[in-house]
Amino acid sequence: MSKAMHIKNISRAQDEITSKKASVKGAKMRQRYHFMAEEGWINDPNGLTFFRGKYHYFYQFNPYDSYWGAMHWGHAVSSDLLHWEYLPIALAPSEPYDNHERGGCFSGTSIEHDGKLYLFYTGTAKHGDEFAQTQCMAYSEDGLCFEKYDNNPVIAAPPGYDQANFRDPKVWKHGDYYYMLCGAKKDNLAKALIYKSKDLLEWEFMNVLFESRGEYGYMFECPDFFPMDDKYVLMFSPMGLHERTAVYLVGDMDYKTGKFIPTGTGEIDWGFDFYAAQSFLDGAGRRIVVAWANAWDWMPWWKDWGPTYQEDWCGAYNIPREVRMMPNHTLQFVPIKELEELRGEKQEYFDIKIQETPFSISGGDGVSFESKLVLDLEQTTAKRILLKLRCKGGKESLICLDLQKAEMTFDRNNSDGWSKGCSRSPLSLKNKTMLDIHIFSDQSSIEVFSSNYQNNHSCNVFASSEQNQNFVMAQEGEAVFKSIVSWGINSCMDR
Ligand code: FRU
Repeated sequence: MSKAMHIKNISRAQDEITSKKASVKGAKMRQRYHFMAEEGWINDPNGLTFFRGKYHYFYQFNPYDSYWGAMHWGHAVSSDLLHWEYLPIALAPSEPYDNHERGGCFSGTSIEHDGKLYLFYTGTAKHGDEFAQTQCMAYSEDGLCFEKYDNNPVIAAPPGYDQANFRDPKVWKHGDYYYMLCGAKKDNLAKALIYKSKDLLEWEFMNVLFESRGEYGYMFECPDFFPMDDKYVLMFSPMGLHERTAVYLVGDMDYKTGKFIPTGTGEIDWGFDFYAAQSFLDGAGRRIVVAWANAWDWMPWWKDWGPTYQEDWCGAYNIPREVRMMPNHTLQFVPIKELEELRGEKQEYFDIKIQETPFSISGGDGVSFESKLVLDLEQTTAKRILLKLRCKGGKESLICLDLQKAEMTFDRNNSDGWSKGCSRSPLSLKNKTMLDIHIFSDQSSIEVFSSNYQNNHSCNVFASSEQNQNFVMAQEGEAVFKSIVSWGINSCMDR
C-alpha cells in the first residue's frame, strides 16, 4: 500500500514538471552554467555522489510551486558536473513519518553498500501541534527508482532533544562501521550527534560529536564531515549566527569516543547566497563541495528569494568547488577544473597599470563570463580596488577590495533594482606579494574568489542581459596587475 502511494506521488509530481517545464525553458533569468531544476523550487543539495561512473545530484525540490513546500528529492545525473540529465524524482512525501505539507523528505546523503545506493533523509511529520523529525532510509538497485525502507524511521531524536530540530543525516564509512551525523538542538543550543551501525539498518547513539556553547548558534543545518590529510573537517550551516552561513572547522577525530576536537575554523563563503553546503568524493579522490545559492527568511539580513518566481522557478547551486588543505590547515575552495571546458574566446593583458579610469574585464557577452586578475601588491599604491560588474544605466554590482582596511565587500544595493545588502569579509594581506581575484558571472549570480580561494563571496544578482559592462578600477593611487585574463563562458544547462 505505502509503496503504491510513493509511486503515485512521484508520478503526480512528474506530471506537474511536464506541464510546466516548456514554459520555464528560455525564461530570461535562467542560469547558463549553474545547476537548476526544470521548474519549481529547489533548496539544499542532497545525496551528492559519484555512483557507477556518474555524478548524481539529488535536491530539495517542490515541483508544485516556486516557493518552499512539501519536500521531494529531485534527481539528475552528469558525467562532467556541467551537463545534466534530469531523472525521475527519487523521493516524494508518502508516509505518516514524512508526509506533512510543511515537511516532507528533508535533506540527507547517499551511500553505496553492496552495490545498492542507499539514501538517508529526514522525514518531517506533524503529530498534534508538534513537528517530529526522524531519520529515514530508502534504497535502489539501479540508482534510478528508490524504495522506502519498511522499518522507517531508523532513528528518532534522543529524549530531552527538540523533536522538531533533528535532521540532515550525513552517512560515511570508516573501518568496519558506518557512521551518521545529524544536526540537533537541545536547550536552545546546536549539537551534532554521531551514530554508529554495522549494516545501515540498526543504529546506535555514540556521542555528541561537536556542540555549540553559544558561539556556533542554536542549530546546525546540513552538517558534513570528512577526512582530509591527517585531519577531519566539519562543515555546517548554523542557525543563529547572523551573516555566517557556511562555517568549517578543521580538527581531530577520535572514533573511540566519537568526539571531534577543532583546532581551527573559517568560512567557506562570505556571500549572502551560499548555504547548506554538502561535500562528496569523486572517482579521482577529489573532495567537492556544492551549495544552494540562496538564503532563508529567518536570517536577519534576508530580503527575499529573488524575482525568479515570476518565471515559475527558484533556486540554483553555486559552482562546484574543490576543497584543498593549506599547510597551516586552513581550507581553500577552488572552482572545479571542468569549468575551463566552457571557456570561450580569451582576452589577456599583462603588466597593466590602472587608476581611476575603468578598465574593461568583460569576457564573451559580458553576462556569462570568467575573469582572473593578479594584483601586484608590492607595486600597487592604490587604497582600494573596485570591481564594477554587470553595469548599465547607473546599475552595478560593486565589489571593493579595500587594501587599507583589509576588507572585501560585495554591495548589491544598486545591482538590479531588486536585490539588497552588502556582504563583508576581512581580507588577509599579511606577507602577501600578490592578490588573486577570480570572478564567475552568470545570468543571475556573481561569485568572486580571492586570497587563495579563502575569501569568497557568492551573491545572486538579477541584472538584465543589457547590464553587460564589467570593469576594474583603482582609487587613491595606482593598481598594478601582473595579468588580467577574461573568457566568455558557454552555456551548458539545458535551460
Ligand atoms: C537547510 C534546510 C535543512 C532541511 C531542508 C528543508 O536549508 O532547512 O535543514 O532539511 O532545508 O528543505
